[in-house]
Amino acid sequence: MVDMAEKDEEEVKERSADELFKDFKEVSITEFFRKNKAHLGYSGKQRSLTTVVHELVTNALDACEEAGILPEVEVALKQVGPEHYRFTCKDNGPGIPEEHVSGVFGQMLAGTKFHRHVQLRGQQGIGVAGVTMFSQMTTGKPMRILTSTGSGKVNDIKLMVDVSKNKADIIESNIITQKWRGTEIEGELKGVAFTLGERSPYEYIRRTAIANPHAKITFTDPEGRKSVFDRTSKIIPRPPGEMKPHPRGMDTDELLNLAKKSSARRVSSFLESEFSRISKAKADEIQAKVNFDLKKNPRKMTWAEAEEITKAFAEVDFMAPPVEGLRPIGEEQVDKAVLKILKPEFSSVLTRNPTVYGGGVPFQVEVAIAYGGSAGRSGGEEGGSKAEVMRFANRTPLLFDAGGCAITQAVNTVEWKRYDVKDFENSPVTVFINLVSVYIPYTSAGKQSVSAEDEIVKEIRMALMDVGRKFHRYHSRMRRDIEREARMHTLMKYSAELAASVAKLTKGDEKKLTKSLQTLIAKKLHIEYKALDAEGGK
Ligand SMILES: Nc1ncnc2c1ncn2[C@@H]1O[C@H](COP(=O)(O)OP(=O)(O)O)[C@@H](O)[C@H]1O
Ligand SMILES: [Mg+2]
Repeated sequence: MVDMAEKDEEEVKERSADELFKDFKEVSITEFFRKNKAHLGYSGKQRSLTTVVHELVTNALDACEEAGILPEVEVALKQVGPEHYRFTCKDNGPGIPEEHVSGVFGQMLAGTKFHRHVQLRGQQGIGVAGVTMFSQMTTGKPMRILTSTGSGKVNDIKLMVDVSKNKADIIESNIITQKWRGTEIEGELKGVAFTLGERSPYEYIRRTAIANPHAKITFTDPEGRKSVFDRTSKIIPRPPGEMKPHPRGMDTDELLNLAKKSSARRVSSFLESEFSRISKAKADEIQAKVNFDLKKNPRKMTWAEAEEITKAFAEVDFMAPPVEGLRPIGEEQVDKAVLKILKPEFSSVLTRNPTVYGGGVPFQVEVAIAYGGSAGRSGGEEGGSKAEVMRFANRTPLLFDAGGCAITQAVNTVEWKRYDVKDFENSPVTVFINLVSVYIPYTSAGKQSVSAEDEIVKEIRMALMDVGRKFHRYHSRMRRDIEREARMHTLMKYSAELAASVAKLTKGDEKKLTKSLQTLIAKKLHIEYKALDAEGGK
């Protein structure tokens, strides 16, 4: 018999560090996301498909908005096999210059929005290259991009992502002579499913239409059903302004990072130029609080020095951050879109004033409540409607990960009973919330859930309470009307009977008596008598 312990000893051989590290290598960002695609929203058959639609539609809207174009976006899905779909997304945006097509679609962390402090839907330059990657991972096929800047020449490019290099691999490239401006993206996906639920591409587009009243969006589903969400407004949102960071929201790491990239010659001028609300006077105040000379080259600033500055940031009084860069949808626009799409009996919209979270990041909250009509969603008790909460971040619908989201938390803390919405969950009510900020604090790269910063939850809650009160007023008025009508009916019925009895006793004119009695009742109830005449004798 072999001694087991001895055998184990024999088999486990010591390995040197050199041996262990011979496979040590850098992985590309694309490689990382290929293995961790759930971080980008590619998890589950339904969600993956909605994510693709989301990436394409947000880019189309961003591009149009930046270029000052009224967007027209056409999305279509076609089933080509079991769990196998073809998608197209066409926009009338500015187009993409030929030399940038491969960077946009075939490379991650490449984009025009990453380095800027602007409120756009995209931020990281990962989105659409993720679509290329997901498409090729599930089908082995390239994406096709048709794009033109309106020069009379359309680039028709097929490309894939070279995952190990995070670079595009151009499969085919042609030029078509045609006068057109925009971008059309076409590709295939496998292992995805189209459904008509709350998290479907259809719902994504419906909500996008509500939050983007200036956009015309057409969606053709795999059954060939075409839905057109026409615009309710021709006002193109002003392009978002660049917003410099405010000193209060800054941590040491981020400060050093900005300093490294700065071209300023001195720390003082770096502070004055890269931050909002740091004037020469404020820079002097900071100088008085730190133990090194702010004439120093910002690229040579040490961690300890940067730490001194962030500490000074917390002590100096700065003006609140400027908020002109924020772009809410606006009450009037939300109201129009809500009325058109939900056709409610009642609606109320509120855009709160901008404020800040985390000490220095400006944000703003917009909410709407709609009751009756097509508000709410089906599937409630006894075939009725259920409450529907529509979450948005910079006009982009958030359909997934509702659980941990600041918006959901805020909705749940409102005591809807106090506003006459007795059983909130089972009411035909839609609550719309749009969070507006340059930096939405998402909880993950999937960008479907907002981290529960106290200030954000509080603002949303206040806004909801305000529209809740308006609903309450409407509802109690409506209830009063109903009660008054019921009382009127009873009184009218008895007045006729009473008039008949009195007429019998006094030998008076029954008709006349009825009329006088009813006139009296009408006057008491503030209702016009005429309307009651016909009903009187009943
Ligand atoms: N439909 C489009 N029209 C014009 N430009 C686009 C379009 N789609 C993407 N882009 C450009 O490609 C860049 C990368 O897009 P994406 O990978 O989705 O990242 P992000 O949207 O976060 O910047 C965008 O910043 C934009 O400059
Ligand atoms: Mg994007």
